[in-house]
Amino acid sequence: MEWGMANRMHRMFQPVSGNSVMVAVDHGYFMGPTRRLENTRATIAPLLPYADALGVTRGILRHAVDPTSTTPILLRVSGGVTVLKEDLSHEAITTSIEDAARLNVCAVAMSVFVGAQYEHESLVHLSNLIDAGEEHGIPVMAITAVGKELEKRDARYLALACRVSAELGARMVKTYFCENFAKVVEGCPVPIVCAGGPKLDTDRAALELAHGAIEAGAHGLDMGRNIWQSDHPVAMLKALRSIVHEKATVREALEVLDGEKARLATSKRAVEA
Ligand code: R5P
Repeated sequence: MEWGMANRMHRMFQPVSGNSVMVAVDHGYFMGPTRRLENTRATIAPLLPYADALGVTRGILRHAVDPTSTTPILLRVSGGVTVLKEDLSHEAITTSIEDAARLNVCAVAMSVFVGAQYEHESLVHLSNLIDAGEEHGIPVMAITAVGKELEKRDARYLALACRVSAELGARMVKTYFCENFAKVVEGCPVPIVCAGGPKLDTDRAALELAHGAIEAGAHGLDMGRNIWQSDHPVAMLKALRSIVHEKATVREALEVLDGEKARLATSKRAVEA
């Protein structure tokens, strides 16, 4: 791996654990101002110091992230369709690699829609983006999107989508957790990070998902809604970090979460007094 590529990968994946806790805040590119992302600047600011990388579009990067920030940026560069359409797979590259380089990002990310109506276009876009990324020393993350077909989140489908992405040259893959997730990881020769998907009923369920993913061999998380739609986003992020970087059990991570909540409540009382 050339220096620029290697340096960018190392900035996102922590040296000791080899893992990464990326915070995904790119949902607005097809969902609009979804719950708790209405004011992205306010959502992002408290999370930024605890994120190993931040996933955003260029619009939100310019608007909501201070340029003095040293948090690595994972730039979403695909789009072109919204939730108002039935088929979400008709995406294209919406941000050039030159703009990604100007924005000094650590990596670029795009959704790939394996098995969807626009599968061919999607995989060709991925290949072209990888060619451009390799030329600039910028790693490409493939996101194995399922669109509205949530039932596609099974090991057989995800293993295929991750493997195809890696074969085309993606330096890392983001996918969804599923039963038998180890099978997905096993078949993918590049690091996998796990998305959270829609907000789960409890923080515990999200911690269990993270724990399951790490146990199965994932190199971390690229999680959004289960962090910033939680009532305690920073505490949740710290609890997730304990799983990803310190191999904490779910019980230990819950202790981190509760400890952080208690600490926040104490400092809030002190401010109000
Ligand atoms: C979709 O908008 C993006 O790929 C998200 O970055 C990804 O789904 C991770 O976010 P969440 O954990 O909310 O699913």
